[in-house]
Amino acid sequence: MNPNFKGKHFITEDNWTKDELDIVFETSFDLKKKFYNEEPHLYLPHKTLFMIFFEQSTRTRNSMEAGMTQLGGHAHDLTPDKMQITHGEVAKDTAIILSRMGHGIACRNCFYGIGNKYLNEMAEYSKKPVMSLQDDVYHPFQGLADLMTIFEHFGRNTKGLKVTVSWAYADTHSKPLSVPQTQILLFPRYGIDVTVAHPKEFPLSKGIIEKAKKNTEAGGGRLKFTNNMDEAFEGAQIVVPKNWGGFGYYDVNHYLNNEDECKKEMRSNLEKYKSWICDDRIIKLADKGVKLMHALPADRNNEVTDEILDNPDISIVFDEAENRLHTGKAIMALTM
Ligand code: CP
Repeated sequence: MNPNFKGKHFITEDNWTKDELDIVFETSFDLKKKFYNEEPHLYLPHKTLFMIFFEQSTRTRNSMEAGMTQLGGHAHDLTPDKMQITHGEVAKDTAIILSRMGHGIACRNCFYGIGNKYLNEMAEYSKKPVMSLQDDVYHPFQGLADLMTIFEHFGRNTKGLKVTVSWAYADTHSKPLSVPQTQILLFPRYGIDVTVAHPKEFPLSKGIIEKAKKNTEAGGGRLKFTNNMDEAFEGAQIVVPKNWGGFGYYDVNHYLNNEDECKKEMRSNLEKYKSWICDDRIIKLADKGVKLMHALPADRNNEVTDEILDNPDISIVFDEAENRLHTGKAIMALTM
């Protein structure tokens, strides 16, 4: 393992150079091969990862815990109610203490205006690497798995690949902005042409859009925004129809001071856009070989129909989910 990464935090790919990320991808592919060949790869014997989940998780929790076991270590599966966090212990104290007892801290905290700050506070005080398992701004492990899956299906030269990240209707819960934001920051660094579609009340955060534009200039990709889902699907080689909450419509402080009112408005805006679904009609506007990606969990028959999600010629969502294991292991093995 490359010792240069030991102790490096993983909160956003934006703090990792492309050369560094390329090493992460090489490591992920190597670990995937070893996993399939049942070759031992005990790179973290007896090491401990503390995982703190403020929210539910299937893929993230299990990829990290299984990953630590496969690397020879152990992951603690923690929630705030199992710790003194619910009694008010702050991120700083939690980070100092856990980093003196183990080798890495991973945390999911998606509360809007709070989660990323919490992660950064832990990173400031932890002596060991801090990894984001998703916050209100970024979902870096998902970004890695997404790009690894794109490489597997479209090859390593992704220059000019047309990817559409589209808002879609869902009635489960207000999903964070972090998945589409990570995608628009990361994909253009690999020359990918990204089109983002969303209703006007469901924008991404202004600051992230500005950052993504800079990444696009540097990476040679393209980044386009539209309020028309059909237009965004035309000619797309990959479509990512996914719901996100209307958080980007509000200034963070305004949202935090008027949370109930904003949530009510988001709910009423949501109901106007039930037609934003990836179905048999709209998929026909895309490229003939189009692939469907989705971080999952999907809100079936709201975001995307069963017909598309379960079509093996189109859907690569389960490859994407599996790659959470291999990319998660790569980051842990390289940084811990
Ligand atoms: N994609 C993803 O992060 O899934 P979970 O919420 O199940 O971890």
